[in-house]
Amino acid sequence: MSRVSQSHRDTETQRRGQGDKETRGQGEKHISSRPPSLLLPVPLSPCPLVLLSLCLRVFVAITLALSAVACRQDMQDQPKYKPLAQSNFFSDGKSARQLVDGTVAYSPEATPTPPMADLSKMTTLPFPLTSQVMNRGQERFNIYCTPCHGALGYGNGMVVQRGFIAPPSYHTDRLRQAALGHFYEVMTNGFGAMPSYADKVAPRDRWAITAYIRALQLSQRAPLSDAPPEARAKLQSERQTR
Ligand code: HEC
Repeated sequence: MSRVSQSHRDTETQRRGQGDKETRGQGEKHISSRPPSLLLPVPLSPCPLVLLSLCLRVFVAITLALSAVACRQDMQDQPKYKPLAQSNFFSDGKSARQLVDGTVAYSPEATPTPPMADLSKMTTLPFPLTSQVMNRGQERFNIYCTPCHGALGYGNGMVVQRGFIAPPSYHTDRLRQAALGHFYEVMTNGFGAMPSYADKVAPRDRWAITAYIRALQLSQRAPLSDAPPEARAKLQSERQTR
């Protein structure tokens, strides 16, 4: 190999950091402008190396030891008092304070209502139906029920289109004949895969929704004779142009 090509090869190998002792010597004069540390790995003296590995071992050992005895606390296992448990914290030895005299239970539904068994059989609203009630029912239905039941109640809401279990259509004989109270009960207690809406929809709004669902059911198969006389001609002409 000629001297020139030899030097060239040396430079190349050193640039890749693979040069051996002999070629390093020959190549040096061609690349002396570069700092040597960039070309050659500066060997650590054995002492720091040994120290480093010792440090690493101690670190790993401590970490392992710590993780073995670490105090882990899960949420289901948190320190707490169970009801009526004893405690040294209060002087009376109880873990909870005595209710102040005259305390009354509060719940939005605390007003006495008939048992659900009776409510679910109701065929009328427990208050007069007005257009405000119907509008309120429509608004609440659109917010809480359409995601699954769809705007017309056919059970094809957006959540269902994205994979949730399809609810039955409201436009079946069974649900057309169901008592108003059945819808109230389903909203209050949930039904199969459907969760309860008692915490989101107040009792009066639940009744308003039942009224709106009944209106939806009627709207899907109402005979022309159900429409007010002044609307019939318009509906008739719409049907013919369709
Ligand atoms: C998250 C989706 C979802 C929402 C929101 C939802 N439902 Fe349902 N609903 C269902 C499913 C699913 C079923 C069928 C459950 C089953 O059969 O297991 C169902 C069933 C029903 C039924 C039929 C019960 C029967 O007798 O078959 C009624 C009535 C009903 N829902 C009313 C409502 C009303 C009113 C609302 C709004 C307050 C509402 N649902 C909101 C999913 C939903």
